[in-house]
Amino acid sequence: MYKTLTTTLNDGILEIAVNRPDKMNALNQDVMKDLGLAVDEIYKRDDVYAAIITGTGPKAFVAGADIAEFLTLSPNQGLELAKRGQVVFRRIEVSPKPIAAAVNGFALGGGCELAMACHIRVASDNAKFGQPEVNLGIIPGYGGTQRLVQLVGKGKALELMMTADMIGAEEARQLGLVNHVTTPAELMDKTRSILQKVHTKAPLAIAKVIRCVNDYFQEDVDGFETEMQEFAKCFSTSDLKEGAAAFIEKRTANFKGE
Ligand code: COA
Repeated sequence: MYKTLTTTLNDGILEIAVNRPDKMNALNQDVMKDLGLAVDEIYKRDDVYAAIITGTGPKAFVAGADIAEFLTLSPNQGLELAKRGQVVFRRIEVSPKPIAAAVNGFALGGGCELAMACHIRVASDNAKFGQPEVNLGIIPGYGGTQRLVQLVGKGKALELMMTADMIGAEEARQLGLVNHVTTPAELMDKTRSILQKVHTKAPLAIAKVIRCVNDYFQEDVDGFETEMQEFAKCFSTSDLKEGAAAFIEKRTANFKGE
């Protein structure tokens, strides 16, 4: 179904692997189109409760946008490229279902931006992160200048983007860029286990948490107001009744996402 991705449905988790290992899984226009369609699948399929994005092969998650495609672009085409990329990555960020990045190697440029658009990042200990665009005479275009600041703060974000330095997984964890570091062999299971834990919680509440947290970063929206409204809406859900009843009856809640 996809030209540049492999997808596997694994017990409700859609596992999406960018599949251009000979090009370090670089994001060309085919990959971006396929990623957009894969995000549609996450949103629409009732049998999918969460997703993992990773890269094929042992070396790279995604080593950036496809540099070969940059050579002939005009400013207008550059704008279109950034717009299309930002739309896909924003849909990942605001997905009501959790999406995790399993970072299995180089996450550079657009690869780092893709990981940052996900809700959770787990990295193998051989992963490397960076925004090396200034080496090429460009800047991040898929949200990197904004999301890196959100995750690691202005000072470190500026340093990383101005020096083009690559950092290892452990440093990325210390900076707050990744949530967990594992061995390569444990990477997928660790990522799955986090999503499986989230899946034991009330799905509508999870979607509301994602929405409220994203609204913290929306200039034109008051996140506190969003929180009040979403909190109030919880009281019309059967999940809240079930969750509260299960607590009182000392049993595990059986949430239906209603
Ligand atoms: N776009 C297009 N092709 C890329 C790519 C990218 N972002 N990253 C790697 N590739 C290609 C290489 O051109 C090479 O293709 P070839 O075999 O046809 O020559 C292949 O992937 C393997 O890469 P190579 O550089 O030989 O591997 P390496 O192990 O020596 O180095 C990296 C790995 C990731 C450090 C190096 O490929 C790199 O710096 N890539 C670019 C990173 C970057 O600047 N990303 C931001 C882009 S905006």
